[in-house]
Amino acid sequence: MHIGVPAETRANESRVAATPETVKKYVAQGHTVTIQAGAGAGASYPDEAYTAVGAQIASAAAAFGAELVLKVQSPVEAELPLMQRGATLVGMLDPFNAQNAALLAQAGVTAFALEAAPRTTRAQSLDVLSSQANIAGYKAVLVAANLYPRFMPMLMTAAGTVKAARVLVLGAGVAGLQAIATARRLGAVIEASDVRPAVKEQIESLGGKFLDVPFETEEEREAAQGVGGYARPMPPSWLARQSQLVHERARQADIVISTALIPGRDAPTLLPAVAVQAMKPGSVVIDLAAGRGPVADQASGRRGGNCPLTVADQVVTEHGVQICGYTNLPSMVAADASALYARNLLDFLKLIVTKEGALNLDLTDDIVAATLLARDGAVARKA
Ligand code: NAI
Repeated sequence: MHIGVPAETRANESRVAATPETVKKYVAQGHTVTIQAGAGAGASYPDEAYTAVGAQIASAAAAFGAELVLKVQSPVEAELPLMQRGATLVGMLDPFNAQNAALLAQAGVTAFALEAAPRTTRAQSLDVLSSQANIAGYKAVLVAANLYPRFMPMLMTAAGTVKAARVLVLGAGVAGLQAIATARRLGAVIEASDVRPAVKEQIESLGGKFLDVPFETEEEREAAQGVGGYARPMPPSWLARQSQLVHERARQADIVISTALIPGRDAPTLLPAVAVQAMKPGSVVIDLAAGRGPVADQASGRRGGNCPLTVADQVVTEHGVQICGYTNLPSMVAADASALYARNLLDFLKLIVTKEGALNLDLTDDIVAATLLARDGAVARKA
C-alpha cells in the first residue's frame, strides 16, 4: 500500500504522524511511504532520517495523493482536494466537530478519528488521548515553573528558607496525574480534585492529597461513575460544593493546573473569575481546557477553559495571576509526542490493513467501528 505523510499546516503544530522508527516498520511490511519534504522538521526528524529507512521525500500533493494518508490533525479544507476519493485518512480528526466530519465526507475519504477509540485495555496501545495528554500534563508543569516567579522546591540556604510551591491540580485523568507526578519531582506540595472518587488512590500514590467532596445523593454518586471511563456532567449541588472547596484551596495555591474535560461537551468551569481574583499575586494558572469551555465573551465568541478568563494560545495576566491557555502542549515536546503518536498509528493500522497490505474495514471490531468518522461520502459517526 502507498502511505503518505503530509506536513502539518495548522497553527502551533510541530508534530508529525510518522517517525523514522515507524516508517522503517511500514517499509519492512512492504508498504511504499511518501513523506512530504520537511514534514518531520518541527519534530527534529530531518528528511534524511526518513530516506535512510526507505521513504521517498516528495511534495504535499504526492503525500496527500497516497491510498492511506497519516496525519496528526485533520487536513485544512484547502488540502482536501489533494486527496483521492476513496483514500483512507487516519489522524486526530476532532470527532465532535460535525462541520469537519461533513467536509471529510464530502471529500469522499474513509476517515478514522483516533480520539474516538474506546478506553479499553485492547485499545491502550493506540490511545492517542492518553499518549498526548500524558505529555501535556508534563509540559504544563514545566510551563508553570517557567512562568512562576518563585522556586518549586523548598530550599534551605544560608540566605534563608524558601517555601515549596503549592500546586492544585483540577481533574486527575491522564494529564492531571502526570502533572502531579512531574510537580512532585520538582518538589512541590500537591492537592488534586476530580469527580471520579476512583482517582483518590492514584493521586495519593503519586504523593498528592485528594480533595474529597463527598457525595450526598444517589444522583451525585451515579454521575461520578461516568461512562466508558469518562466523567459525566455532575449535578449542580455537587459542583457548588466542589466550587467552594476549589475556591478555598486556590487562594492557598501558587500554581493551578486544570485539566477537566467532558468529551463532546463544554469543559466545566472550575476556576471562576472570583477564584482567580482571590489568588495570590504571582500565582500561575495553566488551563489545559483552554478554548473548550463555555463562551466567556459573547461579543467575540471567545471560549474560556476551566477558567473563563483563559484565552486560547495566550498567557494573560488577570488580578496579578498569569493564566496560560496554550492549546497544544504536546506539540511543544514534538519529538517524543510524535514518537508516541506514530506508534499509536502503527498499532491502529494493524486493525485496518491486512498482512498482505490490503485495506480491511471490519466494522465488527469495536475500535474500528468507534473511530470510523466518514465513509462513502457520508458521516459515519454521530458528533
Ligand atoms: P479527560 O481528559 O476526559 O478528563 C480529565 C479529567 O477531568 C478526568 O479525570 C475527569 O474525571 C475530570 N473531570 C471532569 N469533570 C470534572 C469536574 N467537574 N471536576 C473535577 N474533575 C473533572 O479524561 P482522560 O484523562 O482522557 O481519561 C479519563 C479516564 O479514563 C482516565 O483517568 C482513566 O480512568 C480512563 N482511561 C482508561 C484507559 C484504558 O482503560 N485503556 C486509558 C485511558 C484512560
